[in-house]
Amino acid sequence: MNKDSKPHDGGSTTRAQFATRLGVIATTVGSAVGLGNIWRFPYEAGSHGGGAFMLCYVFFIFIIGIPVICAEFIMGRGTHSNIIGAYRKLAPGKPWYWAGYMGILASILILSFYSVVAGWTLEYFIQSVSGNLDLGSTAAFHDRFESFASSNYRPALFALLFLAVNYLILRRGVTAGIERMSNILMPVLFLLLLIFCINSLMMPGADEGLRFLFKPDFSAITPTVLLGAMGQAFFSLSLGLGCMATYASYFNHRTQLARSATLTASLDTLVAVLAGVMIFPAVFTFGFSPSAGPTLVFEVLPSILHSLPGGIVWSSLFFFLLILASLTSTISMSEISIAFIIEEKKMDRRKATALNTCVAMVLATLCALSFGCLSGMTIFGMTLFNLFDYLSSNILLPLGGMVCSFFVGWIADRAFVRSQLTNGGTLRLRAMRVIIFCIRWIAPVCIAIVFLNSIGFIN
Ligand code: TRP
Repeated sequence: MNKDSKPHDGGSTTRAQFATRLGVIATTVGSAVGLGNIWRFPYEAGSHGGGAFMLCYVFFIFIIGIPVICAEFIMGRGTHSNIIGAYRKLAPGKPWYWAGYMGILASILILSFYSVVAGWTLEYFIQSVSGNLDLGSTAAFHDRFESFASSNYRPALFALLFLAVNYLILRRGVTAGIERMSNILMPVLFLLLLIFCINSLMMPGADEGLRFLFKPDFSAITPTVLLGAMGQAFFSLSLGLGCMATYASYFNHRTQLARSATLTASLDTLVAVLAGVMIFPAVFTFGFSPSAGPTLVFEVLPSILHSLPGGIVWSSLFFFLLILASLTSTISMSEISIAFIIEEKKMDRRKATALNTCVAMVLATLCALSFGCLSGMTIFGMTLFNLFDYLSSNILLPLGGMVCSFFVGWIADRAFVRSQLTNGGTLRLRAMRVIIFCIRWIAPVCIAIVFLNSIGFIN
């Protein structure tokens, strides 16, 4: 953001703006790339049949993801408001803004289980630096993780620690520092992933791993796989609860919305695919089960790092970068409710951030304990951690995305939408027509079909 402009210090004319085109891409990619790509994508792909999941995921990114990012961008940049304010400005007096409240609820749920996983990363980082991660056999990695995750205070403690760091950064409202840092460090993370991929590709299980990930078994495409892949696409792109809209409210009038959306989606998908190429050869080489669930990556990663010469250095660097990538993501999801509280409830930034953090801390503690003493407490057969994950990613995000694209496609003023996409008529409208068509028809209809399909309504 411009150094000389503080966010939320008054009316919309003084709102902060991202200074450069790189700033726009770096922040949206910073929000999108995170644990969703490196932790959630491999475990979801692993438990939903690999190739079949991958195919659906990439399909949804392009056919639903990019149009919905554009829809969120249009709402945010066009109104320069938080998500609820944006709905209110575009449809005054109508109840559409309730979709914004749903987004805020979902963002808190995500923040709470996300910080548990970020806490695991923190623990692994500390273990790496102190030289304790260097373990011998695969069974040891598994047992080690089990005993860590199910212990009663460590995971909760690390989740709270992570939320505290998130708070300290957000409180000042100057996310500029972390943005600049991540501009430099994200390419390093990318490079590390590439190196780990090459290392994995030389493992004996590489063929099997790649076949698992890239060779779709079409008969494995079930309603559950479709819903999972759609949820993952939304989660990974930070879509459906107004996160991208909130960031777009800081764009200036020259930002090219469709182009930024496509670039963000492509880079995000590339990172997810790289994470898959890094994980699955190792899964098959070391005999892990690909369908191990949320703990998969944390059990497999140490074995990959262990197989590299100088493993401790690699793993310290990797987990450090992963913490940073998680922070740029949690900052973006916290900003949704913080922008809302500041602008609509007229609270100051510190109080708003504290409120957001306190609620997340309570829920995160419950999520962390759901691997330990609360593991017996299940709702619909899911632990609290799994419930929050499932409910937000598979239901609330796609639902929010459906409402948003329907709203931009059918309710918002058409000339306004066209003008946002073409920057007031200075960009060619031809390509934009495709996007408008996807926003109006493809995205809402596809999301509705996947939903109905998953509850057994149509098949
Ligand atoms: N996309 C991020 C990731 O892949 C997570 C995330 C950040 C998110 N902001 C969000 C998910 C908003 C849903 C909504 O790690």
